[in-house]
Amino acid sequence: MSLPANGCSHGLMGQSPLIAAIRRSIEKASRNRLPVLLLGESGTGKEVVARAIYESNPRGQFVPIDCGSLVGTLMESELFGHTKGSFSGATENKKGLVELADGGTAFFDEIGDLPLELQVKLLRLIQEREFRPVGALSWRKVDLRIIAATHRDLKAEVARGRFRQDLYYRLNVMTIRLPALRDRKEDIPLLIGHFIDQGRAQGLPEFCCGDDVMRALMSYDWPGNVRELKHCIDRMAALRSEGTLNMWDLPSALQQPHQSPVPHDLSDVLEQHAFHEFVLPPKSPVISLPDSEKQAICNALAQTGGERGKAAILLQIGRTTLYRKMKQYGIA
Ligand SMILES: Nc1ncnc2c1ncn2[C@@H]1O[C@H](COP(=O)(O)OP(=O)(O)OP(=O)(O)O)[C@@H](O)[C@H]1O
Ligand SMILES: [Mg+2]
Repeated sequence: MSLPANGCSHGLMGQSPLIAAIRRSIEKASRNRLPVLLLGESGTGKEVVARAIYESNPRGQFVPIDCGSLVGTLMESELFGHTKGSFSGATENKKGLVELADGGTAFFDEIGDLPLELQVKLLRLIQEREFRPVGALSWRKVDLRIIAATHRDLKAEVARGRFRQDLYYRLNVMTIRLPALRDRKEDIPLLIGHFIDQGRAQGLPEFCCGDDVMRALMSYDWPGNVRELKHCIDRMAALRSEGTLNMWDLPSALQQPHQSPVPHDLSDVLEQHAFHEFVLPPKSPVISLPDSEKQAICNALAQTGGERGKAAILLQIGRTTLYRKMKQYGIA
């Protein structure tokens, strides 16, 4: 698999040595049908890699299975299907997700959340390549590739008795560890460009980042990894009109005092309008919708020097709505 000039293959962006190693692993994995275990923090791209492995050598369907949602009485039937009359409500024979993936790839996402009673059935599926629908008397053969992913420490889950050791060994044949974004910060500019392009394709305004903004984006640790970076870029594109991005367009979590300071002139405007509370770094990088609305209003007012009419135009809302929201949020 050769890497195109934009550093992207199968949706996996990045030119860092760590991502180059992931690409080599994807290539190796695509040459066989052994189970693959994808480990890594949330938002590091485990699903992107699972799809890349499948797409590098596509056979049959790619069937994502969200193990966390397999709960309750119907979970076994969802996974393995059922026969007509096997329980009340089973009015027809129904195929499960495993049968859908026959000939293709089943992606067991968040495998660490798979209930213990299904873990033993998955083990049989991997070892014997067979399963039994709920209510069926015989086992059915199936040929599928299994890719599993989790953000949990599976070894620790085994030690706690929450994950079967035999299943862990069966899955842990080819393991790919996705690096955290903070360990490959050199990929951040490429990812930003990619997400801006994606936003533009969806009709969002195109923008670019000034030096201080890029510095702030590079020095932040991104605990939510690539997903958090993507949300940050999407949110800035949605709240901002075209042009070069300034520090005050950033979510407040990124406006850390040890990073590039907020420009003096903005601080003055904020002081004047008592908006400073919105640029103090909050404890969590997650910003609620009301908070981001507040911040958008403050940004608009800061840009228009407090002129509400112009701010309403920038925000693409009516003046009355702006006044109501300013009152609601206590903006003077
Ligand atoms: N290398 C990458 N290039 C481009 N986009 C990426 C990359 N890594 C992740 N993304 C994007 O980031 C988001 C999160 O990726 P993904 O869903 O694969 O993460 P994950 O590891 O499965 O997270 P979780 O553990 O929370 O399920 C998606 O929108 C995905 O498209
Ligand atoms: Mg995922």
